[in-house]
Amino acid sequence: MSSSVNLETQDAGTVRLTYGDQEIELPVVEGSEGERGIDISALRGSTGLVTLDEGFVNTGSTRSAVTFLDGEKGILRYRGYPIEDLAAHCDFVEVAYLLIHGELPSPAEAANFRSGIRHHTMIHEDMRSFYNGFPRDAHPMAILSSVVGALSTFYQDSMQVDDPDQVEISIYRLLAKLPTIAAYAYKKSIGQPFMYPNNDLDYCENFLHMMFATPAHDHLVDPDFAEALNLLLIVHADHEQNCSTSTVRMVGSSNANLFASISAGIGALWGPLHGGANEACVNMLEQIAADGGNVKKYVDMAKDKNSSFRLMGFGHRVYKNFDPRAQIIRACCDKLLAKLNIDDPLFHVAQELQDVALEDEYFVERKLYPNVDFYSGVIYRAMGIPVQMFTVLFSLGRLPGWIAHWKELHATPGKRIYRPRQIYTGQNERTVVPIENR
Ligand code: CMC
Repeated sequence: MSSSVNLETQDAGTVRLTYGDQEIELPVVEGSEGERGIDISALRGSTGLVTLDEGFVNTGSTRSAVTFLDGEKGILRYRGYPIEDLAAHCDFVEVAYLLIHGELPSPAEAANFRSGIRHHTMIHEDMRSFYNGFPRDAHPMAILSSVVGALSTFYQDSMQVDDPDQVEISIYRLLAKLPTIAAYAYKKSIGQPFMYPNNDLDYCENFLHMMFATPAHDHLVDPDFAEALNLLLIVHADHEQNCSTSTVRMVGSSNANLFASISAGIGALWGPLHGGANEACVNMLEQIAADGGNVKKYVDMAKDKNSSFRLMGFGHRVYKNFDPRAQIIRACCDKLLAKLNIDDPLFHVAQELQDVALEDEYFVERKLYPNVDFYSGVIYRAMGIPVQMFTVLFSLGRLPGWIAHWKELHATPGKRIYRPRQIYTGQNERTVVPIENR
């Protein structure tokens, strides 16, 4: 397996910063798509100042050659290829290869990669017993994160982060086992026996087989469902320095192994402001439908500054025009619902909500558009995937992106542990009053 890592930036002049009687010149670097950033690494050493950027709204945490996105123009490209192009011509495993290795695979490379994944789809029999310890109503994201973390206990032969062979086998194990771990989490929740993977099936078919087949009856995977899942996994596969990917890089920067880093990323993805929004979005649509479909009431609530309610599936830190992933998914959603002849009341609520919100001044002013999570839930519902599994499917999609970033981090010359600074606002020095005197 070869990897290409090009983290070079161009010199784009300098900025001069004046503070009191101090003046410092800081270099400006430019990436391959013209993005510019001030390199402030010398700032503290020269002036004692640090930068403050709550939520990293304006901070480039790294140079990266994996994914380019332009939120203003609604552009998303993995390794230079537009997401629309990849969605039209590739399957998820090819996209995973692209993200992890930097280039689309040749037919021989693709065959080799698929066979490497197939070889590792089962999880160790002893790992199945972990599931006995989880309560039946445990959230599958909690199970996913725990079992992925526990891979380190079973595969101690592949924990050296600087050994390419060990990293490679960990990558195969993760790509191969995550669908199995995820499907077992679902089977556990409904009390059905776990289904072993079927390596005659492709990646998405195999996942649907493990989800829906039982030992008592086979499950013929609907090709439209497998196609929709393939598309959803592709559009979720990477999104540059988002919360979970930054988490994977943060944990990986301490030289923690790949399983530990990905397990942490799954935890970050779970939150409703990130990957958990697809689950939260469908729960919200259900709530609106059960409340008589009064969309306006919820739009008003989202606008009310005294209410903490937000329209789930709307808004994005980076996309301020449209989310290209939402557009691809919307088309897939229409196609699937029409073909299955599904008249999902939630879809009507979603449609109405979108119409109201897109015309409402509050949303227009703040550039709050439907994001990727807005429609994905409706598609998953149509496929019979339970709502608690939605973010689990997001994890399956995001895995190659996490791996690509973890690998890139380790290939970065002069890699250092991630360790942000802070502006301390707590108590000044004081002395401890012994407990009997407090
Ligand atoms: N509903 C109502 N108001 C909103 C929403 C929303 N969904 N999102 C943002 N706003 C308002 C917010 O109140 C603020 O208003 P004001 O300027 O008057 O104070 C303004 O828009 C800017 O919001 P922000 O919180 O500063 O924006 P952010 O960039 O920090 O947050 C976000 C981005 C995605 C967390 C946020 O839009 C949100 O909470 N959306 C709902 C959750 C969601 O759908 N998340 C999935 C994101 S896509 C999947 C992924 O990649 O993770």
